[in-house]
Amino acid sequence: MAEALISVLLEELASVVYEHTKEAVTLVLNAEKDVKSFSSKLKAIQAVLEDAEKKQVTEARVGDWLEKLKDVSYEMDDVIDEWNTEILRQQVEAKQEGEGENASVAKKKVCFPIPSDCFCFGQVNKAIHHHNIAKRIKELNEKLTSIAAERQMYGFLQSTKRGTDEQPIQRQKTTSLVDISTIFGREEEKETLLSKLLRESSQKERRFHVIPIVGMGGMGKTTLAQLAYNHEEVTAHFEKKAWVCVSDPFDEIKIAKAIIESLDKKERQISSNELETLLLCIKRHVENKKFLLVLDDVWTNDKKKWENLKLPVIMQSCVEGSSILVTTRNEVVAKMMGATGSMIHLDKLNNKDCLALFNSIAFLDRKEDESNGFGAIGAQIVERCKGLPLIVKTLSSLVHDKKTIVEWQDVLDSKIWELEGVVDQVFLPLLLSYYDLAPAVKRCLLYCAIFPKDQKFYKNNLIDLWMSQDYLNWKQNQDKRSIGQSYFESLVMRSFFQDFEQDDFGNIYGCKMHDIVHDFVQFLTEKECMITEVVQGANQRMELPGDMVRHLTLVKVPEGPFSFPTSFHSCKNIRTLKTLDSRITTISPGSILQLKCLRTLNLSNNIISELPKEIGELIHLRYLDLSENEDLKELPDAVCDLFNLQTLVLKFCWKLEKLPKAMGKLINLKHLYVRCCNELKYLPKVIGSLKSLQALDYFTVRDHGDDLEDEEALKLGDLGIMNQLQGSLWIERLGNANDASEVEKAQLGNKKHLSDLVLEFREGNEEQRESDEEMLKALQPHQNLESLTIFCCHCTAWSLYRSKSLHNLREVALVEWKFCEVLPPLGKLPSLEILKIVSMNNVKKVGVEFLGIEEEIETFSAGILFPKLKHLRFVNMPNWEEWEGITKDSSEITIMPRLSILQIYGCPKLKGLPDLVHKITALRTLEIKRCEILEGDYEKDVGKEWAKISHIRNITITSGIHIFLNIITCLVLTLF
Ligand SMILES: *[C@@H]1O[C@H](CO)[C@@H](O)[C@H](O)[C@H]1NC(C)=O
Ligand SMILES: *[C@@H]1O[C@H](CO)[C@@H](O)[C@H](O)[C@H]1NC(C)=O
Repeated sequence: MAEALISVLLEELASVVYEHTKEAVTLVLNAEKDVKSFSSKLKAIQAVLEDAEKKQVTEARVGDWLEKLKDVSYEMDDVIDEWNTEILRQQVEAKQEGEGENASVAKKKVCFPIPSDCFCFGQVNKAIHHHNIAKRIKELNEKLTSIAAERQMYGFLQSTKRGTDEQPIQRQKTTSLVDISTIFGREEEKETLLSKLLRESSQKERRFHVIPIVGMGGMGKTTLAQLAYNHEEVTAHFEKKAWVCVSDPFDEIKIAKAIIESLDKKERQISSNELETLLLCIKRHVENKKFLLVLDDVWTNDKKKWENLKLPVIMQSCVEGSSILVTTRNEVVAKMMGATGSMIHLDKLNNKDCLALFNSIAFLDRKEDESNGFGAIGAQIVERCKGLPLIVKTLSSLVHDKKTIVEWQDVLDSKIWELEGVVDQVFLPLLLSYYDLAPAVKRCLLYCAIFPKDQKFYKNNLIDLWMSQDYLNWKQNQDKRSIGQSYFESLVMRSFFQDFEQDDFGNIYGCKMHDIVHDFVQFLTEKECMITEVVQGANQRMELPGDMVRHLTLVKVPEGPFSFPTSFHSCKNIRTLKTLDSRITTISPGSILQLKCLRTLNLSNNIISELPKEIGELIHLRYLDLSENEDLKELPDAVCDLFNLQTLVLKFCWKLEKLPKAMGKLINLKHLYVRCCNELKYLPKVIGSLKSLQALDYFTVRDHGDDLEDEEALKLGDLGIMNQLQGSLWIERLGNANDASEVEKAQLGNKKHLSDLVLEFREGNEEQRESDEEMLKALQPHQNLESLTIFCCHCTAWSLYRSKSLHNLREVALVEWKFCEVLPPLGKLPSLEILKIVSMNNVKKVGVEFLGIEEEIETFSAGILFPKLKHLRFVNMPNWEEWEGITKDSSEITIMPRLSILQIYGCPKLKGLPDLVHKITALRTLEIKRCEILEGDYEKDVGKEWAKISHIRNITITSGIHIFLNIITCLVLTLF
């Protein structure tokens, strides 16, 4: 879709003119003038894009025109990027010359002895290069001139700013009438909704309920609302009812009029356009009555408009128990109305109900066909609908008129959007949601078409990918990651994403797209994104993508070197290349050289053993994923010429031995992922000087090797200057005698963006105890740290030195402390929400010191210990016998008041739970597994302690074979 592309390009052009005029490079001849002229033409075109995009559906030549426009835009984007890269290169060279100054004096002075403007060789090259860039900008500008002129032929409408007068697309108006025969399933949601509507208000501050029904377009929100609205109990319950279809734009006057109309047909003639008057009129109707107002299909989350309508004021004048029922696709709307608590989420309709719905329409008045083979195909068609009622309705109406099995099979086999009615009926609601997005967010959504159907993707990863395509660029000074976060959220809020995976704190980190949404984005990007299977054979055959392909996924590339077929000339346009289920050993230099525009290259999970040095020519490359290539031993030095590279993923390259020394040139590198590169002896020291590096997932403390290596290796202490690190950092193999001083040098206290820290000590014996203790003392993370995990520490205890720096910890996990007998006083951590204690084999007793009681108790917030703890888990504590509560009078001490989940696994000797556990009223889930004694004592109904826990809502007590988890590390890995 051109609109998104162009508005982002315009931002880019604006910034290029702005930035580069400051730089000396500016003077790429007349480039600046050309860029400006290009921009202004593009702006003029932008104004008609909305109309053009709608027209292209019916007019092929409009489609062609848009394609030409996109081509030019993409090309301009490339040229601008080259220009930027050129500047980067100069910066890198300057930096290196600076560094090399002391070492070798010669390098810089290869100039001719001409006094004034020194004619270095490099300079000449640059001049030629600049000239080339300027020339291409000029050419593109000319091309755009003719494209701009052509637009006159189509008579496009200028689009007005959204939200003013004209409605962008014809929306179907809903009414309160419902055809009961077409409702299947939703019993549960119906019950919930009715009980919410019919209950009396108990909240003091509000006399009325707001009940939002939220779900993606086509899920049946309106149908559910209609069902409730017409329900006889509801009709009897409310004295006045009104149904208004709100839609977009949100016009207060229109809505107020519609409410009045719905309340009283006779008031039709009301002609006032004064909002005040209208509101008074509504009030007159509903005052002291029990009133139900349905606002169907609300889009706006503009609080001002909502407040203008003064509905709360009107509702206050009604009788208690009055309700506003709202349907919306955007959860933000529910938030704006302050009604997230009573929200009803409408999710997929189950398969059985879908089938019933399908059959009711498809076999309407031809029941006998159901058993004739039609039924089986019908069931398969329903499968494809993935629980979306709207598409079930569309497809069942479609096949209703088709009389032969062959025709039905056709429907089953076609691309979903090629089927009649799908685009205008099923995609319409999605299109509406789509048009509601900001252009940059649209692009981000469309990019998700590169994922195969039903694939899970991860938020952070997705943001890296968006970043690699330069989609997160539009605000120069804002952190890209946070822009990415907010885009991701707005897509979540509008139900484009679903099937969420959440961390312990409830943050979403992974999700999928509904199949229909996936079809929809593929429909919108049909020519640009392509997933193609490579068929094994003498000449690897594949369906060749056309010129317009920008994002290509190759599936099942057979084992061996890969190169593109010679007949394939469109490589030069490809910006994303990735493989899936493939076994490439290398990629041919020739093919790489053709892929000049590549931004994102994912060759993860192949069997690459060698990467050609030509990779260094991919100057636009920002994302390079080579993870899970087991045979890769090293990277070519040329990788360091990728000045734009932001993300380098090398996880699980088990045999990778070293990284190129010149990595200091990667001045844009933001993310370096090297987890589980077990053979990697060290990271080059220059990594410490990469100012952009925000994410380093893994750091291994190395044994001392030879001096040369020591010189070149990044040391723990070198982290001291890397204060820009963000997110999580895992430090492994701590435990050398002098590590404590290195830990101190690493200055974790200055890393204010680091939220997760994992420390893993190396295997050792008791002698290591003291040095480990030193290290924990030296560890003084920044107060912002939220999560801390410590593996294999040899300490016997830990008294949380300087616990101020641990003040904001929300999660702690202590794993496999071999010699530890006494748990640390974790009860003192004021923000701790989640605590996991795993494999502390020497702990026999957990006493009051764990709560933090031995010391001066009055320093804690009113005697509350573990004030915020929600989730407590003990795993695999083979010698733990006793958990001590508080013996003396403890009425002043509150312990774990918020604990809601307690899990105890693999503690066979534990004799009982302390009373303090029994007393926690917040406790909702108790799980006891593989704890022989507890299993008996707390057995449901018969155990002698059962009565003490029987009030807890979810109790799971199971026995099982006791598994010794020596490789507990692996298990815990999966916890994060
Ligand atoms: C060059 O050497 C001088 C003096 O030894 C030192 O102060 C300076 O920091 C060095 N410059 C670089 C870039 O290493
Ligand atoms: C890269 O490719 C691998 C293997 O095909 C896949 O599992 C992974 O999700 C891809 N990464 C991204 C960011 O798409």
